[in-house]
Amino acid sequence: MERTFILLKPDCVQRRLMGQVLTRFESKGLNVVAMKMLRITPDLAKQHYAEHVEKGWYPTLEGFITGGPVVAAVIEGLEAIRVVREMLGATNGLQAAPGTIRGDFSSSRQMNLVHGSDGPEAAAREISLYFGDDEICPYVPTITPWMRAADE
Ligand code: TYD
Ligand code: MG
Repeated sequence: MERTFILLKPDCVQRRLMGQVLTRFESKGLNVVAMKMLRITPDLAKQHYAEHVEKGWYPTLEGFITGGPVVAAVIEGLEAIRVVREMLGATNGLQAAPGTIRGDFSSSRQMNLVHGSDGPEAAAREISLYFGDDEICPYVPTITPWMRAADE
């Protein structure tokens, strides 16, 4: 069982796509184990996107990500980090495959709706950046025996 961090970016909230996006993760069999709405500050943006702060396009990314409310969540499931990234699709919505979230809903490189951790280290770092341990609510849905075999 693995946990990953997702962020429904300001374009996702403004375009009323929060429900559709969360439904995809739920339908796949992933569990939402933490969630909150917040406004990202410039300081938090620099921590979240630490690897990109020096890039030429970072200032416009910071303007976008701090420009409206976002929803942060922790998603749990088997191979959740890879599965969520594949469900998001390529970074640029114009190149993301149809059937992925970005491929179906985004026509932009920057406004690509949802962030997902790109590996185990990023997942641990990003979860702790947005959530305290006491804000995570693990549970086993009663439908689990009908989502996968017991030995999977
Ligand atoms: P990146 O980590 O490369 O993509 P991903 O979100 O798929 O891991 O980039 C982080 C975010 O930065 C990306 O989701 C959108 C934004 N971005 C830009 O605004 N301009 C760019 O040229 C790139 C490459 C990314
Ligand atoms: Mg990335």
